[in-house]
Amino acid sequence: MKDFILSIDQGTTSTRSIIFDRTYKSRGAGQQEFPQHFPQSGWVEHEAEDLWTTTVETARKAMAAAGVTAAQIAAIGITNQRETALVWDRRTGKAIHRAIVWQDRRTSERCAELRAAGHSDLVAERTGLLIDPYFSATKVAWLLDNVPGARVAAEQGHLAFGTVDSWLIYKLTGGRRHVIDVTNASRTMLCNIGTADWDEDLLKLFNIPRSMLPEILSNIDGFGETDPEIFGGAIAIRGVAGDQQAAVIGQACFTPGMMKSTYGTGCFALLNTGADRVASKNRLLTTIAYRLNGEIHYALEGSIFIAGAAVQWLRDGLKMIGKASETAELAAKADPGQRVYLVPAFTGLGAPWWDAEARGAMFGMTRNTGPAEFARAALESVCFQTRDLLGAMRKDWPGNADMLLRVDGGMSANDWTMQRLADILGVAVDRSASTEVTALGAAWLAGHGAGIWPDRDGFAAEWHLERQFVPSMASSERADLLTGWDSAVRATLGFGK
Ligand code: G3P
Repeated sequence: MKDFILSIDQGTTSTRSIIFDRTYKSRGAGQQEFPQHFPQSGWVEHEAEDLWTTTVETARKAMAAAGVTAAQIAAIGITNQRETALVWDRRTGKAIHRAIVWQDRRTSERCAELRAAGHSDLVAERTGLLIDPYFSATKVAWLLDNVPGARVAAEQGHLAFGTVDSWLIYKLTGGRRHVIDVTNASRTMLCNIGTADWDEDLLKLFNIPRSMLPEILSNIDGFGETDPEIFGGAIAIRGVAGDQQAAVIGQACFTPGMMKSTYGTGCFALLNTGADRVASKNRLLTTIAYRLNGEIHYALEGSIFIAGAAVQWLRDGLKMIGKASETAELAAKADPGQRVYLVPAFTGLGAPWWDAEARGAMFGMTRNTGPAEFARAALESVCFQTRDLLGAMRKDWPGNADMLLRVDGGMSANDWTMQRLADILGVAVDRSASTEVTALGAAWLAGHGAGIWPDRDGFAAEWHLERQFVPSMASSERADLLTGWDSAVRATLGFGK
């Protein structure tokens, strides 16, 4: 009986694979970190082979842990770090360079030139994105212009471009398929999100030959079958989505107005706006949440660069805490009379500010300020930044007065922070019973595609609340806190200008 789904989550710092059974329970998992390469300041690369070998090894480990063979797996689901760009040679199946990771800033100047030349409106209108090195397009152009012989080889049709999903599918199918799912495509800055097809004007603007591009498929689709050699039998790949979109699906945020926020190193918040493709006036991104049964659902997305990383800074930079888990207890002891704010702009500020040059600052310290106030300021900074995203989303899409927020990711396990989040947002915060929503989202796509799991509504009915955090702060106190935060951000943005 094909009773299991293999879900592969290829992330920025590690690759994880999980075997789910028919009741959505994890039966075995494998996880492996791989090296990060920083060849120059602001550059971030991954070895394409590392992404591939950790995928195979963790998948085999998960299968062994669950005691499951290829013949018992109904389908594979894949979710992945988005925007990261790979180019490989179809003749050899080898990448021509390391993958350029989404965090990489090497094309900042090129993006500034494109903005100055007045291309922002075209890009926003077609892709829903801002011209930024974050997205794949300028990374691909950089590879073509900097790897010797690449542009000529691309023009002769020998090279293939893909995001991580495309690369893994290419490898898993023994080089037989060159495809990408629609959500990953929507992050390349080459895809028209109205038609979900590659856009000729953008290909011309970024100077990328169409012959390099993969075929765009829906989230549940025929992505190919694995080469039988890899897992001891062929397995169909039936579901694929970028990791933030997979979390939207895993959180069952299928109804317009539902929002999920994933707290890892950074934080990515996506609000489902349904068939409504909202053009942001507040510097959020418009992106494809998923395409199921031929229907595209859109989302507004905001990203915060520093969330859990603020706690890492307390631990590794300031050495104020020994373990991340101590932060909440410490924060709870902070002096309520002291208003201390941390604006964690360590690598600039993301949405809705998008200021790459801003740097971090602390405000409001006195002689009595100590580790407890630092801990509270670090945790609150995550809440305040989420509130800034929510505020921008509300302005962009006033239809979402009854916003529902579901949270996941490492930091969501922290009760103090989640209560503070509810208090600062003035909105209830729902924590899912599943701690694996991203992998589960990819698994559901595959399992529904393979016919072992119910449709969207059936899956949504299986979503369980672990705990709801209800706002309990007086609105005057909230208003005071927010006024302080707003002036802290303004001062940070203005510093040095
Ligand atoms: O857009 C980047 C995002 O997809 C990366 O997610 O979880 O690998 O850090 P993660």
